[in-house]
Amino acid sequence: MSLPDASAASADRPIGSAPNADRPIGVFDSGVGGLSVLRALQAELPHEHFVYFADTAHAPYGERGDAYVAECALAVAHELIGTHGIKALVVACNTATAAAVHLLRAQWPALPVVGLEPALKPAVTASRTGHIAVLATRGTLASAKFGRLHEALRGQAQFRLVPCDGLADAIERDDAIKTGALCARYMGAAGPFGLQAGEVDTVVLGCTHYPFAAPLLHAHAPEGVRFIDTGVPVALHTRRVIAAQGLLAGAPASAPGLTLRGSADLAHLQAAAARWLAPSAPSLPKVSVSAPLSAGAAVAGR
Ligand code: DGL
Repeated sequence: MSLPDASAASADRPIGSAPNADRPIGVFDSGVGGLSVLRALQAELPHEHFVYFADTAHAPYGERGDAYVAECALAVAHELIGTHGIKALVVACNTATAAAVHLLRAQWPALPVVGLEPALKPAVTASRTGHIAVLATRGTLASAKFGRLHEALRGQAQFRLVPCDGLADAIERDDAIKTGALCARYMGAAGPFGLQAGEVDTVVLGCTHYPFAAPLLHAHAPEGVRFIDTGVPVALHTRRVIAAQGLLAGAPASAPGLTLRGSADLAHLQAAAARWLAPSAPSLPKVSVSAPLSAGAAVAGR
């Protein structure tokens, strides 16, 4: 994979020109995990058109290292800007945010870029026992960005950091048996759970894939233990960011659409979107599926 030339992205919307409220919002992840964020974005911003990109050909990001993930993130952003002329980018991936959000902002300074990070601050506020488990990818937990966040909150709670190797991949592949086994293993490492002194009463889901395994994770903790993810806060933040720049879409004449893009296996992404987005967007009106980043022909829209 070679790094894209940012100047080539200027065909549709010159980089540095003012983003336009009529353009879509780009959202991306290594795979289907970012759909947990897109679901919240669609609920919060019902007038917006979204282009969701799953970088499935290069997933999982979590155990690959910063340089690899940064290269992927730059390539995906380049594609979303160059082909779709997005007005804002939501990095719906903790691992990619940690590895690349600063590079994305440096490369495209006129583009609003919303990143996300494991919800340690909300967890500190929510926790009564002051014992918090953080489930995330190895890449996120090893990143300098996460290190700074952890350091800043160190005195305020005890954090148990659990790198969940393989879990995002198992969720991505829809492998229920492996997902169940890994949830049991990592929740075992994160506990003991409970509401008494010394027990973990708050679990941070620090990877956007993990909300899709929520029932399997919840099964290993007693009633009252809280699970916190970042979908809703990121959606609220995105609204604030684009509103501040005058980029909120007005009510469209027809229902806004969703474009699904991927670097591999678009059928899998399409099925996951139908499954995970349906509860909050029952009538998903105009889903169109377009070509992978680097290979294959366009898949017919529906
Ligand atoms: N969903 C991503 C995250 O939030 C990445 C998972 C992966 O590709 O390992 O970190």
